[in-house]
Amino acid sequence: MRGFQGCSLLLCVVAAAAIPIVPWKVKCPLQCVCQIRPWYTPRSVYREAATVDCNDLFITAVPKDLPAGTQTLLLQSNNIARLEQSELDYLRNLTELDLSQNSFSNVWDFGLKSMPQLLSLHLEENRLAELPDCSFPGLGSLQELYLNHNQLRRIAPRAFTGLSSLLRLHLNSNLLRTVDSRWFQVLPSLEILMIGGNRVDAILDMNFRPLSNLRSLVLAGMNLREISDYALEGLRSLESLSFYDNKLVAVPKRALQRVPGLKFLDLNKNPLQRVRQSDFTNMLHLKELGLNNMEELVSIDKFALINLPELTKLDVTNNPKLSFIHPNAFHHLPQMETLMLNNNALSALHKQTVESLPNLQEISIHSNPIRCDCVIRWVNSTETRIRFIEPQSTLCAEPPDLKRRHIRDVPFREMTDRCLPLISTRSFPSRLEVMDGDNVSLHCRAMAEPDPEIYWVTPEGVKLIPYAHDGRYRVHPEGTLEIVGISEHEAGLYTCVAHNLLGADTKSITVLVNSSFPRSEASLELAVLDVQPYHILLSWKPHLNAVSSNLTWSSFLLSSSLDTTNVARIPLGTHTYNITRLHQDTEYWACLHVAFVDLQAKVACVNARTKEAIHHQRFLGDTQCLLTLLALGVLLLAAGLVARCGFGDEPRRAKDALWDMGAVHVVYPRLAQHWAQGPRGGPLLAVEVQAEPLDS
Ligand SMILES: *[C@@H]1O[C@H](CO)[C@@H](O)[C@H](O)[C@H]1NC(C)=O
Ligand SMILES: *[C@@H]1O[C@H](CO)[C@@H](O)[C@H](O)[C@H]1NC(C)=O
Ligand SMILES: *[C@@H]1O[C@H](CO)[C@@H](O)[C@H](O)[C@H]1NC(C)=O
Ligand SMILES: *[C@@H]1O[C@H](CO)[C@@H](O)[C@H](O)[C@H]1NC(C)=O
Ligand SMILES: *[C@@H]1O[C@H](CO)[C@@H](O)[C@H](O)[C@H]1NC(C)=O
Ligand SMILES: *[C@@H]1O[C@H](CO)[C@@H](O)[C@H](O)[C@H]1NC(C)=O
Repeated sequence: MRGFQGCSLLLCVVAAAAIPIVPWKVKCPLQCVCQIRPWYTPRSVYREAATVDCNDLFITAVPKDLPAGTQTLLLQSNNIARLEQSELDYLRNLTELDLSQNSFSNVWDFGLKSMPQLLSLHLEENRLAELPDCSFPGLGSLQELYLNHNQLRRIAPRAFTGLSSLLRLHLNSNLLRTVDSRWFQVLPSLEILMIGGNRVDAILDMNFRPLSNLRSLVLAGMNLREISDYALEGLRSLESLSFYDNKLVAVPKRALQRVPGLKFLDLNKNPLQRVRQSDFTNMLHLKELGLNNMEELVSIDKFALINLPELTKLDVTNNPKLSFIHPNAFHHLPQMETLMLNNNALSALHKQTVESLPNLQEISIHSNPIRCDCVIRWVNSTETRIRFIEPQSTLCAEPPDLKRRHIRDVPFREMTDRCLPLISTRSFPSRLEVMDGDNVSLHCRAMAEPDPEIYWVTPEGVKLIPYAHDGRYRVHPEGTLEIVGISEHEAGLYTCVAHNLLGADTKSITVLVNSSFPRSEASLELAVLDVQPYHILLSWKPHLNAVSSNLTWSSFLLSSSLDTTNVARIPLGTHTYNITRLHQDTEYWACLHVAFVDLQAKVACVNARTKEAIHHQRFLGDTQCLLTLLALGVLLLAAGLVARCGFGDEPRRAKDALWDMGAVHVVYPRLAQHWAQGPRGGPLLAVEVQAEPLDS
């Protein structure tokens, strides 16, 4: 965010163009330059100041016989270590004194006892280590004090006594370990406080309470891990707040509720993983929010930003793992004009996200791995009022045939309005090493149309669905799996499944606890639970660390010239299977194929004979139609069309038609072209069907 760089946005000096610098015709000390220069008061009022510039001269003392009318005395980058009141006493009009980059190491060496006219004092980049009580006596008019980049370890509670006019205090980049609220009790006028760059781990409750006039607070680069709920209590006038470059893992939302006047908030460069539901709510004056350069940020969850009536700009850029913005991440942001989302890992931005921002004028989504499928179709579907920033670098990354095409040139109109979920590859790694007792959060996110549902499968094959609380496991509806206090026996392969009615995608992660990883179990057993004329019910024991499982079944009796093996991919976490639509009184052979994470594969097979049916006639009819369909399904999958058997004659897309038939539908369409190998070598026809897994 621009506003946070350099000077504070509140009292930022506007670079006034072409203000003349004129010579000041006085007796000027040797090597110094005397000029009338433009000068701004700490409240940004323009003035002209009689300036003596003795910067960069390697002098060790203040030059003698300075012009009596000197208003600004610049002594930056010298070697001065001591200063007496008498050396400056005669400069009755001195308003600014710059002693930065000198050698002061003790505040008593800096003997200013009474300079009631001084407004601005620069002592930055010296070697001050301590400020005792009453360090700055007799500076009752002082408005700006720069003490940054010293070696301050200790500041006495009453160090600033007497500075009742101070507006601006820079304490950043010192060696402070705490922030003491007593410092501020004598600074009732303070408007700007820079205290970043100190190794303060925590801001305590009420730390800034006396600062009721403070407008800008910079707490950057402090190693802050947590902001307590009442840390910002009392900052009634605060408009700008920066937590840039800290160690915050969550948005300090309760603390932020205590500063209702906030307009600018900078949370850049913090290790947040998610922006969660209502992290930013009811901040009625917030205008700009920055969430940039976050190495760990994966997701902006549902209703993350709610009721921010004055928010006009949101900057969420340069977050290498940010792969998901929930379609309903934003709610009631009526003034939002600019949405910056470039240089993230987003595969898409949902149409609903854009539609939820009624005043959106411009959007930046370039330099993201955009998948040019139906989710991003809105870009070209209607005449959008929204301007794209850098459209020439807004390119498709997927699918392969559209790679590097400009997103604006993609003929989206020819696309369907449904697409498969794809789990973002950057949302969680494929391997993770943790310590015994750690809390582990795995974020699985996928975008699709319709919105996908997500579940996780543990190494034991237990399926974990959102909201369910299963021991130490918890799955959040957006797809995050939390494991509280993981133990060694919970190490193993965890798999996320994202599915919608078109199909599913899965992605697994190997979690090692204290470097250990359990071995796969020895045996695989497949059991027949029930046999009926038209279906056989199978079940098996869950097996540790399975990557994928398939069930195949066939009957040799029915195969004449065309040998057909049915294959169903078993969703992870499923341990029983109802093979339906079989022939009565027929011998079947079924095998479960399981691939494990350590590249092992195992097979277990059973055979069973279906019972004889009672309603002979009807059954045969059904079966014939079905068999035709299954065979047809194969052929037509390739052709991409299927004529529906007995349900109507309009040609439909194969997937839809099969879906309509109820239980039998194609899963994993990405595998639809795959021809499985038969048990006896030669290629067989395979129909990928799923016949109602029971425990899904
Ligand atoms: C100090 O400033 C006042 C008011 O601007 C001016 O009248 C006076 O001459 C200045 N003093 C000197 C020594 O220049
Ligand atoms: C939509 O895509 C077509 C190319 O198929 C292009 O000619 C047209 O300008 C695009 N419309 C918008 C609004 O980007
Ligand atoms: C894990 O989370 C629990 C509950 O949220 C918390 O009490 C515990 O301190 C956390 N443990 C670690 C190692 O962070
Ligand atoms: C796991 O490793 C940590 C750190 O090395 C150690 O403190 C802990 O005792 C180990 N836990 C087990 C169960 O070995
Ligand atoms: C298996 O499928 C058949 C046919 O759809 C059904 O009648 C039967 O109830 C199912 N069995 C179980 C245990 O769900
Ligand atoms: C299951 O089938 C798919 C496609 O037919 C294949 O890629 C996969 O390797 C099979 N898995 C096992 C465990 O046989």
